[in-house]
Amino acid sequence: MREKHGGERIRAPTMRVMTLTEPLVTSATRTPATKTVLMCRPDHFTVSYRINPWMFPQNPTDTAKAVAQWEVLHDTYVGLGFDVKLIDPIPGLPDMVYAANGGFTLDGVAYGASFTYPERQPEGPAYMDWFAANGFQVAVPKEINEGEGDFLLVGDVILAGTGFRSANDSHGELGRIFDRPVVSLNLVNPSYYHLDTAIAVLDDRPESANIAYLPSAFDEPSLEILRERFPDAIIVTEEDAAVLGLNSFSDGYNIVIASRAKDFERQLRERGFNPIGVDLSELLRGGGGVKCCTLELRA
Ligand code: ARG
Repeated sequence: MREKHGGERIRAPTMRVMTLTEPLVTSATRTPATKTVLMCRPDHFTVSYRINPWMFPQNPTDTAKAVAQWEVLHDTYVGLGFDVKLIDPIPGLPDMVYAANGGFTLDGVAYGASFTYPERQPEGPAYMDWFAANGFQVAVPKEINEGEGDFLLVGDVILAGTGFRSANDSHGELGRIFDRPVVSLNLVNPSYYHLDTAIAVLDDRPESANIAYLPSAFDEPSLEILRERFPDAIIVTEEDAAVLGLNSFSDGYNIVIASRAKDFERQLRERGFNPIGVDLSELLRGGGGVKCCTLELRA
């Protein structure tokens, strides 16, 4: 017996209209890169001096809470398949948890840090010792610089911040050591004193390099550079920047961010990234967030 098909209606194919808010890149097109990072457990974390506007030494800190929050970040990285290395925390160096400031590594070379404030200066040699003991060729700095706090590799260039911490001369030193173009950017707001508080690297691979940033943290010439180089950058709100939302770490797909940076989270999702929120409220009291606690190791 033959079935009858006559009664079926022909349906028009479903048409989807692209709206402006629709993601141009879907999560299917983004791929994570495998990252190796260095972290420092905040066993000795406290706020005992004031070297940035976030720090209030008169307010007591909760070291156990800082450790618990840091452990969530650590375990998040492990869960993402990152290779997480640890440096031993040193008593009396409460800011050592902000490993991003310990140096800048690329091509197996570690450019050591030379800190602006005496309180953090002993961290420089401590991190350089770690680099040397872990297979890096160490370039001892002549110029004041605070490592990946101010130096961000994006595609083929290194973005370098100055204005509050790393000296402008360190940008030249950086360029000579790594033989890469360095783009200097001027920071103008003391609350965003390190470049990694004002710019998030969303993807560092040359073919898909992109960033997010807070325009008000830069002077006009620097903004012109950013607009020209990164026309597709995410612009974050003042609110998100004020919880150090930009201070995030990305593998090109997964981006670990401050859980309170809600609009940044939405924008990342729209672009096909996978934002993962963590709460580092206790470490924020030292003026640092996710990225500050993370130094990328590029062997
Ligand atoms: N208390 C530290 C300082 O002022 C915080 C460092 C934050 N690190 C960073 N990469 N932004 O030096």
